[in-house]
Amino acid sequence: MLKSFLIAGCFAAAGLCPAAAFCAGLGTALDRARFPAEVLIVRGDLQRLNSPAALSPAEVTGLEGRIQSALTGLAWLAQEYGALTKSKIDGQLLQDLAQSWAQRDFLSAQALADQLSNGYTLNSAIFSADRASAKDVERARELDLQLCQGCHTDRVGTEKILPAYRLKEMAAGMPSDEFLARLLSGVRGTSDTALANPLSLGDIRGLLRLYQEDAVD
Ligand code: HEC
Repeated sequence: MLKSFLIAGCFAAAGLCPAAAFCAGLGTALDRARFPAEVLIVRGDLQRLNSPAALSPAEVTGLEGRIQSALTGLAWLAQEYGALTKSKIDGQLLQDLAQSWAQRDFLSAQALADQLSNGYTLNSAIFSADRASAKDVERARELDLQLCQGCHTDRVGTEKILPAYRLKEMAAGMPSDEFLARLLSGVRGTSDTALANPLSLGDIRGLLRLYQEDAVD
C-alpha cells in the first residue's frame, strides 16, 4: 500500500527544504485545511468521473482508486477538523456519501460531496495569491522551473493512471479553491518531512499567483 502510494504520489521535497529542522512546512494551517481540501478534491474527482469524455480508461481507474482511498480517510479527517475548529460534523452526510459511492451512484455522490464542501469551506484567505510577496513569486517561479515542470507535462487524455498535468492548465480548468486544495494535499514530501507537504505558506501563495495568473476564476 505504502509502496504504491510512494510511486504514484507527487514528491517534491528534493531541494525544497535543505534544513529540515527549520522547515515546518504549513503546520497547523494545513491541519485545519485537510478535511475541507479533501472534500473539494473528492468533489472534483467525482465531477471528472461523471463527465469522462476526455479521460483515458487508465485515468478512470486511477480516479476511482483515489476517490475510494480518500473516502476511507474522510471520517478520520472530519474528526480531526471537528476537534481543531470545534465545529460539529454531519456524520449522516458522510455516511450517505460513502453509501452512494459503494452503490456506484456517482451522481448522488457528487451532489453529496458538493453539499459537504458548502458546509465545510476551505479557508482560502490565508493562502490568497494576493498576499504573495515579490520574494514568494520569485521562489515559486524557481521551484516550478526546477522541479514541478519536470514532471507536470501531461495533457488531458494521457493514458496514465494518475497523469501529472501541466499545472497552469490544471489551474485554468477548475475552481480556484479546488486548485488550492490540490496544491495543499497533492504535494507530498519525502520521509524527511514525514510525507508532509514541504511547501511553505509563501510558496503556496506564490505558486497560486504563478499558475492562476491568466486563469479566469
Ligand atoms: C517526481 C515528479 C513530480 C514532481 C517533481 C512534482 N510532481 Fe506534482 N504530481 C506528480 C504526479 C505523478 C501527480 C499525480 C499523482 C497524484 O495526484 O498524486 C502529481 C500531482 C500533483 C498535484 C495534484 C493533482 C491532483 O489531481 O490532485 C498537484 C497540485 C501537484 N502535483 C503540484 C506540484 C507542484 C506545485 C510541484 C513542484 C513544487 C510538483 N507537483 C512536483 C509528479 C510530480
